[in-house]
Amino acid sequence: MQGKALPGFRDFYPEELALRNHIFAVWRSVARRYGFEEYDGPPLEPLEIYTQKSGEEIVEQLYAFEDKGGRKVALRPEMTPTLARMVGERAQALKKPIRWFAIPQLFRYERQQRGRLREHFQLNMDVIGEAGPAADAEVMAAALDIMRAFGLGPAEVRLRISDRRVVVAKLRHSHHVAADELVPVLAALDKWERAPADSERLLTDALRADRARVRPVLEFMSGLRDGAAELRESAAAEPLNECVQRLGAMGLGPFVEVDFTIVRGLAYYTGIVFELFDQGRSLRAICGGGRYDDLIKAIAGVDLPCVGFGMGDVVLGELLKDRAKQPEAPAQLDAFLVAVSGEDVEPVLKLAHELRDQGVAVEYGLRHAAIRKQLELAAARGAPRAVIVGPDERAASEVVVRDLNAGTEEKVPVARLLNGFFR
Ligand code: HAM
Repeated sequence: MQGKALPGFRDFYPEELALRNHIFAVWRSVARRYGFEEYDGPPLEPLEIYTQKSGEEIVEQLYAFEDKGGRKVALRPEMTPTLARMVGERAQALKKPIRWFAIPQLFRYERQQRGRLREHFQLNMDVIGEAGPAADAEVMAAALDIMRAFGLGPAEVRLRISDRRVVVAKLRHSHHVAADELVPVLAALDKWERAPADSERLLTDALRADRARVRPVLEFMSGLRDGAAELRESAAAEPLNECVQRLGAMGLGPFVEVDFTIVRGLAYYTGIVFELFDQGRSLRAICGGGRYDDLIKAIAGVDLPCVGFGMGDVVLGELLKDRAKQPEAPAQLDAFLVAVSGEDVEPVLKLAHELRDQGVAVEYGLRHAAIRKQLELAAARGAPRAVIVGPDERAASEVVVRDLNAGTEEKVPVARLLNGFFR
């Protein structure tokens, strides 16, 4: 068939859009509760803001091309570089810490799999200008409160937290990983659970200079989960421990798990990193984020610490459907207006207009038909009531209101209908 959406791109039929709108509404309401202000940027950006700092994986997935002016551009695959650019431009004027959120549509040419498409909407919440772990705890708490607002508790979702600084300190001191080897070694660690063979290959490449180190680093990686208690005692784990404590004080402790296998795929993270998963881990991450204290400097030359996360609508939507937490069908009509005779059509138009002006949702048949047909249409449109306008009722300034579920009828004066009847 011609005219199908591209692979990985979605058509939103009303039912699907209702779910998306529900997700956006919860995102916005929790973000506002945390004092975050909404911003947005352009969907098309100069290519180099991604090639500079985001890391190889995302650069390989770019929708990039040359525009008609010969500029190298890309559809945004993530929001963080745009945020860094925007904050960098007004760094002096903006009051710190900045708490901003956005809901951009993002584009990545991904291999198709469950929970991964080529476009998605992503809530981004970031705190800029605060280096301490209180800010990290704050954005994590917001992500968890979003889960709670959707009716998902610790039995359904878990927040897994790590700190790159802890893992890096161990890699550097115990395994002699050099500064320039760190990015590929962390990329290998990021892949360890999902694709161990790829991970081992990446690691072997990264430690080419001294192959004898590969085996011990692999052992370190596979023991990371069990070694959590020991690593948490190291000095580098202080911010992580404080963060966990703050989440506990907020009553969010049952959601939280320290897990040093979490490193995150993006290259710019510098400290605490975290991901939110469904409890059974049958789906990909619902949300991922962390601290990225050097990105604004790299993009805009201003030194400002940042922490934040991105939460996509795709995995979340699947989880809500799986757990039957999707919204009820959106409220539709308040009433369907029925004209008994051809002469009642204009009074129906007048009444419909007056009701709509008051915010009441009404429809009427666009073609005049027998009353029975109009009532059938009313039922098909899901209207809870029919408001029937006929010559006798008009003479008495009344209408007949029929409850289409109960099948009962009552006469209602027009003045009452227009005065709070539907509230
Ligand atoms: P990310 O881990 O690449 O992080 O994406 C965050 C979330 O977006 C994922 O956990 C997932 O829910 C969703 N997501 C990503 N790619 C796809 C896709 N192809 N299809 C469906 N959903 C997807 C970032 O993008 C960081 N910039 C987040 C951030 C903000 N870090 C600090 N501030």
